[in-house]
Amino acid sequence: MSAQLLPVTLTCNTDLRFIDLIQVVGSELLKHMSFSQEDGERVWLAIQEGIANAMRHGNKLDKKKPVWVAFNPAADRLEIRIHDTGPGVDLDSIPNPNLPENLLKPCGRGVFFMKQVMDTVAMEKDAEGSTLVLVKVKKGREPEGA
Ligand SMILES: Nc1ncnc2c1ncn2[C@@H]1O[C@H](COP(=O)(O)OP(=O)(O)OP(=O)(O)O)[C@@H](O)[C@H]1O
Ligand SMILES: [Mg+2]
Repeated sequence: MSAQLLPVTLTCNTDLRFIDLIQVVGSELLKHMSFSQEDGERVWLAIQEGIANAMRHGNKLDKKKPVWVAFNPAADRLEIRIHDTGPGVDLDSIPNPNLPENLLKPCGRGVFFMKQVMDTVAMEKDAEGSTLVLVKVKKGREPEGA
């Protein structure tokens, strides 16, 4: 039996250039967990949207503020937690970008895309900021407790 994978955590300054650095770790972990290449690429894009939101909207691109990313692997799924120092957002209140009045807007598609790709997209708030929680279950398995 293979050893249980431990969480991998990263902390970096708010700088969009660090997304590439986190990608190296995230992509390798997805491969290590035997996600298909197609799923891995889509999950990575969702993570990238989440980190960009944490930096832009949460930390307001303030380089001094930290972003924490935790990859929590389990046998049947990968949980990714992205923490910023902002107040977070009610994800259910975000307008649907597919509605006619929103179709021409250039922004507002990141959360929608994440919901398409991931099995769970949630926002948790705490005294230090907020955490976006993303979960992807490996194909062929049902999420536990669903
Ligand atoms: N971590 C966050 N902290 C605070 N607000 C957030 C956070 N993530 C998202 N939001 C809010 O939710 C809105 C929708 O996010 P979404 O990623 O869908 O669109 P966007 O970032 O505005 O544009 P884009 O299509 O380029 O991603 C944002 O405009 C922002 O107001
Ligand atoms: Mg966004």
